[in-house]
Amino acid sequence: MNIAGRPTRTIWPAADGSGDVEILDQTRIPHAVATVRLRTLDDAVRAIAEMQVRGAPLIGVAAAYGVCLGLREDASDEGLERTHDRLLEARPTAVNLAWALKEMLAAVRNRPRGDRLAAASARAAELADADVATCEAIGEHGARLIAEHAERKGGGRVEVLTHCNAGWLATVDWGTALAPIYKAHRSGVDVHVWVDETRPRNQGASLTAFELGQEGVPHTIIADNTGGHLMQHEMVDLCIVGSDRTTRTGDVCNKIGTYLKALAAHDNSVPFYVALPSSTIDWSLTDGVAQILIEQRSAEEVTRMTGRTATGEVVSIDIAAPGSPAANYAFDVTPARLVSGIITERGVCAADEAALALLFPEHRPTAPNAG
Ligand code: MRU
Repeated sequence: MNIAGRPTRTIWPAADGSGDVEILDQTRIPHAVATVRLRTLDDAVRAIAEMQVRGAPLIGVAAAYGVCLGLREDASDEGLERTHDRLLEARPTAVNLAWALKEMLAAVRNRPRGDRLAAASARAAELADADVATCEAIGEHGARLIAEHAERKGGGRVEVLTHCNAGWLATVDWGTALAPIYKAHRSGVDVHVWVDETRPRNQGASLTAFELGQEGVPHTIIADNTGGHLMQHEMVDLCIVGSDRTTRTGDVCNKIGTYLKALAAHDNSVPFYVALPSSTIDWSLTDGVAQILIEQRSAEEVTRMTGRTATGEVVSIDIAAPGSPAANYAFDVTPARLVSGIITERGVCAADEAALALLFPEHRPTAPNAG
């Protein structure tokens, strides 16, 4: 999508052919649009852990490029194993990380050392391009839902609420939850987005609002607890959020606070959709609350805030009394019963095991004694 009218991706191989990788530094948006060059495995691990790149699909693609950087340093079997383990530990909740690492290992493991880097670079580029195509397909399927709401309102403005950033900055391009909005907007549907600020890191206020603004999509930032009030007053037509890990039964794990929005949507009969690429489905899981590991991040993310002063300086300030303990659970699980539908690259389906298996038959469990 666009930054200052220029089509931009979140990650790309450096144009000088050095094998380095460049990323948009998401810790600096919206105050600056800056790129960072990743030269080493350490750089890639740090970029993921410190959230210079974030969002489930992008974490996966960044890990894929991280494998290339690791192989540049050591293409031995042990080196590959170490690279895999270090990247896997960088962030625990988004399953795309493990998924992309599995894809990369499959592409290089059985090759001679001398061929591994070239094979890895080719596979990482394929995963990046596939992510773009997948997200665009999610956008097309989801845009039809938004268009249906517009028709029901006689062409009136469709009000969408979203949480965190599941836009193009969370992927390589297009996004998941925001892709339907971009497609609808570009096709002339009047759509407005309520953007949850998304404490503690404010991905909504800093990233979602930034990218919607760059695309000219009307939007309003709201404090995280505003959604319930808006829904009670019929100011939200539908919610669309993303997912970091999805069970085969349709439970979704997304940024902390998503569950509360789903409860409010349920209580007010507002459709609650989750847009996700199939790479976020963990087919081994059946119970999200019991089985998904929730990342806990530094308490400082809760007790400090970063922003720009009137003189243009970007500073961090304390917002709590010194010494007050804080807890920082980064994600929560929304059970499938609260999800109206899942928007995937293959179409929209109910949030349940049968519907997901119908869309993705290759993951249907085989009967124990099936011949
Ligand atoms: O902690 P983050 O910023 O990586 O969390 C991102 C989210 O929760 C997104 O909603 C999720 O990754 C879906 S992205 C398309």
